[in-house]
Amino acid sequence: MSSRHCGLDPQSRSNNFFRQQLARNDLVAAPMAGISSAPFRLILREFFDGLAYTEMVSVEGVKRDNPFSTEYLDILPNDRPVVAQLFGGNPDSYQEAAEVATKYSNPDAFDINMGCPVKKVIKSGGGCALLRDLDRVRAIISSMRKGTTKPFSVKIRVGWDESTPVYNEILDIAQSEGADAIILHARTRSQMFGGRIHYEALADMAARATIPVIGNGDVTDVESYRRMKETGVDGVMIGRAMMHAPWVFKVIREGRDSQDYLAPIELYELIFRLYHKMQQHASANENKQGHYLNIIKKYAVWFSKGLPEAANFRAEIYKNSDEESFLNLMEFFKR
Ligand SMILES: Cc1cc2nc3c(=O)[nH]c(=O)nc-3n(C[C@H](O)[C@H](O)[C@H](O)COP(=O)(O)O)c2cc1C
Repeated sequence: MSSRHCGLDPQSRSNNFFRQQLARNDLVAAPMAGISSAPFRLILREFFDGLAYTEMVSVEGVKRDNPFSTEYLDILPNDRPVVAQLFGGNPDSYQEAAEVATKYSNPDAFDINMGCPVKKVIKSGGGCALLRDLDRVRAIISSMRKGTTKPFSVKIRVGWDESTPVYNEILDIAQSEGADAIILHARTRSQMFGGRIHYEALADMAARATIPVIGNGDVTDVESYRRMKETGVDGVMIGRAMMHAPWVFKVIREGRDSQDYLAPIELYELIFRLYHKMQQHASANENKQGHYLNIIKKYAVWFSKGLPEAANFRAEIYKNSDEESFLNLMEFFKR
C-alpha cells in the first residue's frame, strides 16, 4: 500500500486506533440519529468504555460551521473515545468538514455513512446512494484521507439489493484509499431494518480484509454477539438494542444471558440522570430547550419494558404534556 495518505502507513494507523480499541473492547455503540446524542452517550458510559459513534451529521452543515450541524458533534467530558459520523455526497466537502469538526470538538476518529436508507440522505448523494456509485465512494474516501490525519471508518451495507452485492468492492476501495476500518451492516438497502442478516458476507469480508471489520445487525444479547463473532469480525456494533437498554454492553461483556439487569429503582434513577444531562446540555444549546421531556418519555417507555403493568404506564405517559404529570407517573418505577 502506498504512503501517499498523509505519510502514514494505513496498517500502523489501524494498529494505533481501531485495532487497539477493539482489542480493549470489541463492542461498538452505533451511530443513531435522534438517539446517540452527547447526553445519551454519557449514560452509555456508565456501562461501556468502548468506541461510541455520534449520530450522523451533514458534511455540508459541518463545513459551513452551521451550529445546527456542529452541535451533533458535541463531546462532553468523560465521553471518549468518540467517532464522528459524517454523511453527504460531495467528496470535496469531507476535507473541509473534517477540519471544522476537528477544531470544534476534536473527535477521536471519523466515519463515513454509506448505509443510511433515509430519503434526505440518499438525495444528498450520500448514505445508501453510494452503494450504487462506487466512483463516488472512492472520491469520498480519498478526500477524507487527504482532509485528516485522524483514523476513519466507513459504514456500509451488503449492497443496494440482493442481486447487487458490493461489499467486497467497497472493502477494496476503502483499503486502497486509506480508510482504517469498515463496518458492515449485513443487510441490503432493500431490506431496510428487517430480514435476515448476511452472516456469509461478514465472514467473506472478515477473511479478505486487512483493516478491522466491524459487524452490525440484530445483536441484542450474548448469543447473537457470539453468532456474529463466529464470522471472524474484529468488532460488533450494536444499534437498536442499546437504545432500549444502554446496559446491553455490560450484559454482553459479563456474558450474562438476561437483560433483566437493573432493578426498577435503578431504572428510575438512570432515567432522571439522563433527563438532567439532557437539560444541562440544553442550557448550552438553546435550540434544544423544551424537546427533552418528549425524548425522556420515549426512554422511560423503552426502559419499562418487561416490568409488571408497564402497559398501563405506557398508555398513560403520553396523555399529558406537562412535566408534573410525568414526574408523578415515574413513581411507577418505585413500587
Ligand atoms: C432510529 C435509528 C437511527 C439510525 N441512525 C443512523 C445514523 O445516524 N447513521 C448510521 O450509519 N446508521 C444509523 N442507523 C442504523 C444503525 O446504526 C444500525 O446500522 C442498524 O440499526 C442495524 O443495527 P441493529 O440491528 O443493532 O439496530 C439508525 C437506525 C435506527 C433504528
